[in-house]
Amino acid sequence: MTNNQKLKDWVGQMAELCQPDSVHWCDGSEEENKKLIDECVSSGQFVPLKKRENSYWVVSDPSDVARVEDKTFICSEKKEDAGPTNNWMDPKEMKGILNGIFKGCMKGRTMYVIPFSMGPLGSNIAHIGVELTDSPYVVINMRIMTRIGQKVLDVLGEKGEFVPAIHSVGYPLTDGKKDIPWPCSTTKYIVHFPEEKAIWSYGSGYGGNALLGKKCFALRIASVLAREQGWLAEHMLILGVTPPGGEKKYIAAAFPSACGKTNLAMLTPSIPGWKVETVGDDIAWMKFGDDGMLHAINPEYGFFGVAPGTSMKTNANAMLSATKNSIFTNVAYTDDGDVWWEGMTDEKPAHLIDWHKKDWTPESKELSSHPNSRFTAPASQCPVIDPAWEDPKGVPISAFLFGGRRASFVPLITEAYDWNHGVYMGSSCSSEMTAAAAGTVGKLRHDPFAMLPFCGYHMGDYFNHWISIGKKHDNSKLPKIFYVNWFRKDENGKFMWPGYGDNIRAIKWAIERVMGTGKAVDAPIGRLPEVDSFDVSGLDITKDQLKQLFTVGKEQGIAELEEMREYYKIFGEKLPAELSAEINKAEERYKKS
Ligand code: GTP
Ligand code: SPV
Ligand code: MN
Repeated sequence: MTNNQKLKDWVGQMAELCQPDSVHWCDGSEEENKKLIDECVSSGQFVPLKKRENSYWVVSDPSDVARVEDKTFICSEKKEDAGPTNNWMDPKEMKGILNGIFKGCMKGRTMYVIPFSMGPLGSNIAHIGVELTDSPYVVINMRIMTRIGQKVLDVLGEKGEFVPAIHSVGYPLTDGKKDIPWPCSTTKYIVHFPEEKAIWSYGSGYGGNALLGKKCFALRIASVLAREQGWLAEHMLILGVTPPGGEKKYIAAAFPSACGKTNLAMLTPSIPGWKVETVGDDIAWMKFGDDGMLHAINPEYGFFGVAPGTSMKTNANAMLSATKNSIFTNVAYTDDGDVWWEGMTDEKPAHLIDWHKKDWTPESKELSSHPNSRFTAPASQCPVIDPAWEDPKGVPISAFLFGGRRASFVPLITEAYDWNHGVYMGSSCSSEMTAAAAGTVGKLRHDPFAMLPFCGYHMGDYFNHWISIGKKHDNSKLPKIFYVNWFRKDENGKFMWPGYGDNIRAIKWAIERVMGTGKAVDAPIGRLPEVDSFDVSGLDITKDQLKQLFTVGKEQGIAELEEMREYYKIFGEKLPAELSAEINKAEERYKKS
């Protein structure tokens, strides 16, 4: 067990507050996992899949399907430390509310204690957390998504530091109330205390709301730690790329939720000889190594990937990762005991049980699967998992990509002129909203660095942190920065770029730029690929269409800068002067063009 008194005291206090019937310390063993799964199958929450070994179909309450950004709080001592992009409440006031709702919230249930490590055990980039939860679904998913159990307590030791994270579905079994397949509450709070480095989550059993190692710890709390300690915690995938006969390079890329990270992380290159290997698909923690380069680890242990649109054609490696030991949430169930979702196959099954557990046929008006339905799969099962994915030192990063869903304006790929221009690009990310968060889908919103919902402090201070990295470190060893957009549409609303495996073509150009061989033309927006040397071999695309993908109208370019100037006002005095200067420089470039 553990001799960490701080941990024992905290678990005791929380048990007193939540009043569970029992407390179970998770050892992370196979037997423990099997027992929990058996319980979930008996209760009807999990349906075993005949076609996939040790895999299960789960549907949530129809109201509990995505992250709840309007119920997510950063409760710093001072309001200004949370900044204009986060919800804030005074920590004392919030503690008052939480102590009220958590009181007795686990009655009739077991409180599970899950010690977890974000990152390879013992890596100097890794950190330990402990999640308390009353949801066996959360324990089973956390075991796939993070490294859990006794081995973590062993590393923690007597005096080790951990991030305390408490979670409850908010459905106590009092007054003879019977349990239901997906307990949750209409009252929801996802709360972070950045000074205390603590997390409290109430009322949801889903994804980033409940698997607290992911967005709550690895991004919101870790971004605060990273700023304090001079490193980076980012919403980025990490991939290794090896050119034919060439040297392997690692790239990290930040796109907002449901904008293509999992797909890019494990893409199957459409050009011969190129190889892509996966380190991570959602989050990167990066520290400077002795070689002066940024080294990244994937703090996670599994993938919590978007199901719809994932197929053997678009992302075979994700499909193959989830053939066993996986959980499928809010997808549809087939007559032969498998799962299906929109886009998995061209032909739709004749009959399904949809995510509402209702009969579904191709004639049905509703989707069979929720647009934010997900698979939870062990990263180790990815056929192209990188040999260094568990290297405690991390992998050296040569390039950063930023991007989002932009139907117009933003070119397929643009290279930043220098570090500060790249930081400007990151800050200017905006994207059409997706089903990953409760809210309006399709609305264009600013999402700087794809961190809007995940930055645990003032976004202006975050920009400053990025700028300061450029000041403190040898710029020749920092990653080159690029902005990409796979989602530009033509006048008929069709995607202009095939995407997926063909995104290797943009990656190829980025790698060539890193190596000093790729050809670029200087444009006001940044450096664009020289169209004639951009590899579209074997692709059904005309020169004109390709040119279109790299065209930025002067008027629209200037309008976009004006809009950024407006947007930057919300950061007030915290906006780095370097970023306003980047707008002025770009404006000059447009005027001269
Ligand atoms: P989170 O897990 O929410 O952070 O999402 P993500 O960024 O990992 O997104 P993911 O790779 O799961 O892709 C989300 C959706 O975008 C899926 O439906 C994909 O099929 C689709 N998608 C991914 N890459 C491309 C692309 O290059 N082109 C097009 N058109 N769609 C893409
Ligand atoms: C995201 O929304 O960016 C996700 C899914 O990766 S969740 O775990 O729900 O945050
Ligand atoms: Mn994500």
